[in-house]
Amino acid sequence: MKTLITGIGCLYGILPPSVRKLEGEAMSSVGSIEDAYLEIIDGNISSFGPRESLSSLDADKMIDARGGFVMPTFCDSHSHVVYAGSREGEFRDKIAGLSYEEIAARGGGILNSADLLHETSEDELFEQSMERVRELMAMGTGALEIKSGYGLNTADELKMLRVIRRIREAVPIAIKSSFLGAHAVGRKFGADRESYVKLVCNEMLPEVAREGLADYVDVFCDEGFFTPEDTVRILKAAAAYGLRGKIHANELALSKGVQAGVSCNALSVDHLERTGEEEIACLKGSETMPTMLPGASFFLGMPYGRAKDFIEAGLPLALASDYNPGSSPSGDMRFVMALGCIKMKLTPEQAFNACTINSAFAMGVDDILGSITPGKKASLIITRRMPSFSFIPYSHHTPFIEKLIFP
Ligand code: NIG
Ligand code: FE
Repeated sequence: MKTLITGIGCLYGILPPSVRKLEGEAMSSVGSIEDAYLEIIDGNISSFGPRESLSSLDADKMIDARGGFVMPTFCDSHSHVVYAGSREGEFRDKIAGLSYEEIAARGGGILNSADLLHETSEDELFEQSMERVRELMAMGTGALEIKSGYGLNTADELKMLRVIRRIREAVPIAIKSSFLGAHAVGRKFGADRESYVKLVCNEMLPEVAREGLADYVDVFCDEGFFTPEDTVRILKAAAAYGLRGKIHANELALSKGVQAGVSCNALSVDHLERTGEEEIACLKGSETMPTMLPGASFFLGMPYGRAKDFIEAGLPLALASDYNPGSSPSGDMRFVMALGCIKMKLTPEQAFNACTINSAFAMGVDDILGSITPGKKASLIITRRMPSFSFIPYSHHTPFIEKLIFP
């Protein structure tokens, strides 16, 4: 099946197949061709170029982009879209002045979502989560990583991961799954973190691996949650099953989570609202993708990550939504891109690369998604006509999608 897209005002996000991620200065440019065509064969990008280089209009299906831009769909490498209900009661508490940590310490927060999830059947959880996934797809997300972590006991963690598997089977976008048993200490364990970590390593993880339910393993390595030592223990246990880490680090404090993640060759370390020179130095030369989640900074009123310093240090940077009921109840990647520009002072090009090729790397799909590259999946956004590339984050909530293609 051959599809031909013509009338492309500008094609953005072109990269050669050898580029798996962009770092430092290379993040500042976006490969583009004006007045372009793009050919798709059996769902994959087969060729593209300037209109005048197109020799034949022979195709099974023609799409006229009518002067709009064509770009790869967003890759959202960090989300918690599988959860039950919502937590706007805590939203009110936050408005009244309570911090995220205070709400968690009172037994709210993640534990609150775990209680709700426990009461929710797998089918109902699937339906609620699918609604969010459909919403994300409509906003241009073409790859989504989803975490467990609202189960906090073996049965409920497995329930979440099975729901993620069902989502993967139900949608045309790429879904990756991360086991986040160490998101908070399960209620039954009270202050006995040690016993809970043992449960994660000795019972949950073997079961998750046996059923092949996770692509990655996550730990919330932060003050009041899990220590760097816990994190290394869990990631070493995960490595024995061939599973790499993608961890939560440095959201609430200088947690040493980055160092823990890098020492275990984690695929990504995420959040990074609080980092110093030590974290930057430690990430240099590693294969770990630093990932920032500006939606959480926005919603919780926390500092934004030092995105520019990371890039100036020559590091790569990914951005993701962190869509979850407690710290970022939105999965709008275009808004994430806009926050990258407005709050973190990234250029539109840097923010775009952080939300496409680098976030594809951060979830292990850079070989098939994240750029306009021959052989990659033709997972594409055709935009409305707009004056320039910068208009995408600038006009952050003006509808911009004309058509989506999910092969
Ligand atoms: O990434 N920080 C830890 N986990 C989530 C929030 C989870 C919640 O509050 O429900 C996050 O921000
Ligand atoms: Fe998160």
